[in-house]
Amino acid sequence: MSSTAKLIIEGKEYELPIVIGSEGEKAIDISQLRSSTGFITLDSGYMNTGATRSAITYLDGENGILRYRGIPIEQLAQHSTFVETSYLLIYGELPTRQQLDHFSQLLTTHSLIHEDMKHFFDGYPQSAHPMAILQSMVNTLSAYYPESINPFENVEVTAARLISKLRTLAAFSYKKSIGRPLMYPLNNLSYCANFLRMMYAMPTEEYQIDEDVVRALNMLLILHADHEQNCSTSTVRLVGSSLPNLFATISAGVAALSGPLHGGANEAVIDMLQHIQETGISCQDFVQEVKDKKANARLMGFGHRVYKNYDPRATILREMTATILSKKGIYDPLLDIAKELESVALEDDFFIERNLYPNVDFYSGILYKAMGIPTNMFTVMFAIGRLPGWVAHWKEMMESNDRKIGRPRQIYTGPNLRDYVPIGKRK
Ligand code: ACO
Repeated sequence: MSSTAKLIIEGKEYELPIVIGSEGEKAIDISQLRSSTGFITLDSGYMNTGATRSAITYLDGENGILRYRGIPIEQLAQHSTFVETSYLLIYGELPTRQQLDHFSQLLTTHSLIHEDMKHFFDGYPQSAHPMAILQSMVNTLSAYYPESINPFENVEVTAARLISKLRTLAAFSYKKSIGRPLMYPLNNLSYCANFLRMMYAMPTEEYQIDEDVVRALNMLLILHADHEQNCSTSTVRLVGSSLPNLFATISAGVAALSGPLHGGANEAVIDMLQHIQETGISCQDFVQEVKDKKANARLMGFGHRVYKNYDPRATILREMTATILSKKGIYDPLLDIAKELESVALEDDFFIERNLYPNVDFYSGILYKAMGIPTNMFTVMFAIGRLPGWVAHWKEMMESNDRKIGRPRQIYTGPNLRDYVPIGKRK
């Protein structure tokens, strides 16, 4: 293949370099386009725009492939832990025993939040969404760690602080919302076991760790840990490019994740399934409803900007959900509704023509529900999972020789030059 592409504008020919990724992904390098031609590219929603080169995650949406640092998501979900996968994403290789011990020790050392920060939880109304609390609490951490204000210093410790404390903040927000005493993390428990204990234990009772739930939680967090240049990760890169501290940068990622078209979809899926259950509408009729554009509704948990095939994470989650429900002896009618909805949609021409398949959020909510996690905490769980991905992308950007402040261009479509009109003379 030629190493350049030809572009003809107004009769003049320009050669643009072609860039090929390690898995054969192809791009036309337009970084000199404006300076050499005066033109920019226009690409709403960045559907065709590569914002960076990245060595973290490979995603092939046509063939349903997802790999972290080259390792298939299926293998990581089966064999790894969330802490090990976080190390892999951030540092590029699976850790040796010594490296893993050091990383785990850092997470243990930094798991507490400053005692003064506990008072902030009192200021929120009980109805506050935990994502709103989480976003501001993450940003607030920067006030307590002035040594992390410079984003080039103490990166290892700041990253560990965030990963460890996000879990503590999430569990505290939940405990606060139900008016129960906050539980501190214990140093002898694993990351996921600690989270479950902080969520559900009471100081007056022994808390039994359920290893099946710990395993399921590890798997859920691994599946959410990175997804290359998605909306929240791109937000982290864009905000981070102006060099604020890492806490402020990640707080912006939490905000981007909270929307229903992104991380908030897992909550919306449960609302949708409950609506179907409560109203008794058939799955066939519901699918007809979402196809009607006027209704402005979507089949939540379906469709993806990149996957035009079954999301491999949804396949793993579908199986894990059924396993956990049967191990715990739970019957959840929402799982039956979800499965029926899936089969109706997958046979419908509207969904077939548009390549709309279940995404990661279609089954994750049912699994969270089986683990006792309340619906308004689902997106918070997603944030805990996605954090190592955000940190990995931020670190990759900060270490790149090609780092520039993110600043897109636009095509102006407003009025041409005109004079100011005093208020009395305006029509
Ligand atoms: N239900 C019904 N129709 C859909 C759905 C859906 N879930 N998703 C896409 N479509 C239709 C659109 O109406 C559009 O139809 P048209 O071509 O006739 O206009 C077509 O499919 C393409 O849709 P777009 O919105 O242009 O696709 P895009 O790539 O921009 O959006 C998105 C992807 C936002 C994920 C979309 O599929 C969606 O809204 N899904 C539901 C929300 C959801 O599950 N989000 C979670 C995504 S995964 C994640 O963030 C972790």
